[in-house]
Amino acid sequence: MAEYDVIIIGAGPGGYVCAIRCAQLGLKTACVEGRETLGGTCLNVGCIPSKAMLHASELYHEATTNFTKMGLMGQSPSVDLPKMVDYKQETVNSNTGGIEFLFKKNKVDWIKGYGSIPEAGKVKVGDDTHTAKHIVIATGSEAASLPGVEVDEKVVVTSTGALELKKVPNKMVVIGGGVIGLELGSVYSRLGAEVTVIEYQDAIIPGADGEIQKNFLKLLKKQGIKFELGAAVSGTEVKKNKATVSYKSRKDDSEHQIDADIVLLATGRRPYTENLGLDALGVEMDRGMIKTDAHWATNVKGIYAIGDVIAGPMLAHKAEDEGMAVAETIAGQKGHVNYGVIPGVIYTHPEVANVGKTEEQLKQEGRKYKVGKFPFMGNARAKSHFAGDGFVKMIVDAETDRILGAHVIGPMAGDLIHEVCVAMEFGAAAEDLARTCHAHPTFSEAMREAALACGDGAIHA
Ligand code: NAI
Repeated sequence: MAEYDVIIIGAGPGGYVCAIRCAQLGLKTACVEGRETLGGTCLNVGCIPSKAMLHASELYHEATTNFTKMGLMGQSPSVDLPKMVDYKQETVNSNTGGIEFLFKKNKVDWIKGYGSIPEAGKVKVGDDTHTAKHIVIATGSEAASLPGVEVDEKVVVTSTGALELKKVPNKMVVIGGGVIGLELGSVYSRLGAEVTVIEYQDAIIPGADGEIQKNFLKLLKKQGIKFELGAAVSGTEVKKNKATVSYKSRKDDSEHQIDADIVLLATGRRPYTENLGLDALGVEMDRGMIKTDAHWATNVKGIYAIGDVIAGPMLAHKAEDEGMAVAETIAGQKGHVNYGVIPGVIYTHPEVANVGKTEEQLKQEGRKYKVGKFPFMGNARAKSHFAGDGFVKMIVDAETDRILGAHVIGPMAGDLIHEVCVAMEFGAAAEDLARTCHAHPTFSEAMREAALACGDGAIHA
């Protein structure tokens, strides 16, 4: 039993960042985590391992498609999936080990085990009860279930099982055309699986800019991924390590079935708040999420919540920002998160990235806007990399030229988007970005060209 200023429950990107910031601000801090390693879903079974698999499969694809075009001849590589999974695990280990090092460096105590809150000011882990003036819940999320679909993590898998497959499936069915489905579907498609994505809506990545949705779908189809849109999966049946997926067309109610060696369930995630004791404490909830005020405080004094357990996009970086901001708030500073400037990235090839408003949202708000677009085909660097697919779309206020949003599909989109994030944080106009010198030849010139297209016109389009 020990006394702390702050105890954070959960060591994912929200929790561990919050813990480090609390310690840096002079608070005696502990973080409770029951997993063998720190880093939560993101580092252990989410963002980081999937990026390793995306990187390896992209290089394989590059080697088998573009190498000979560049005069790189010789034997094409073959896929050894268990070895690729080992590489993925090494990447995970070095990252989770890094957080352990940072905890030691910043003097954050790692309390091993799963915590609950018997009363405000107390956190129970195993037989020990620790006291803390402030408690931050950062317990994240888990894959949402779908009626009729029983996950066994062998044939019917979530993203966790999909990162541990023993061999590349011949046929893979992905339920859900959202971020997880398209990222992991891309990995196995590139490694040789026949991938079919079944999506309930009539478009992939619901909520994204319409033009991006259409272009992205076209590019993924060109890569060989099949799509059944406007189709609701009603169940899966597994026999002798093979699955049959049943789905219904929403257009005409027709029933269909498709066979698969592996089925990936990727229909969203839900907040993970079980066994914390929130009911008994009287913590207010809203549709499964913990309700917080603008300063991440719950209705119970001294208890805060951040990340996937509260409202907003379930993104590691959103949780990180909240983690830092709530630490600052607890330390008596003015923690703040600008929810209008949270980028979203899909790490497929090409990458897809967005920040701010979509055209559809602005139309709904009745706001007058202008669009500046630039295709990567007009970007010299992209052409030399066989990466001319995609475009940058910048949306600005029609009268003031202030940037309201940007949507990018193309090479390095996930990095390029941050130029716009910084611009938006400073309330910049497209002209500000257009008048900023960009090194040539870089992919970032496409961002400048889209900004130029909001004014007198892009140069290379
Ligand atoms: P998602 O919400 O992005 O997509 C789920 C999709 O499943 C939706 O398009 C939905 O219409 C569809 N769906 C739902 N029920 C269905 C049914 N019965 N039949 C067919 N389709 C159905 O959820 P996803 O991909 O599972 O990701 C979960 C969370 O993790 C998201 O919040 C995502 O942002 C986050 N994440 C973010 C990543 C990134 O930033 N790169 C990577 C991976 C996950």
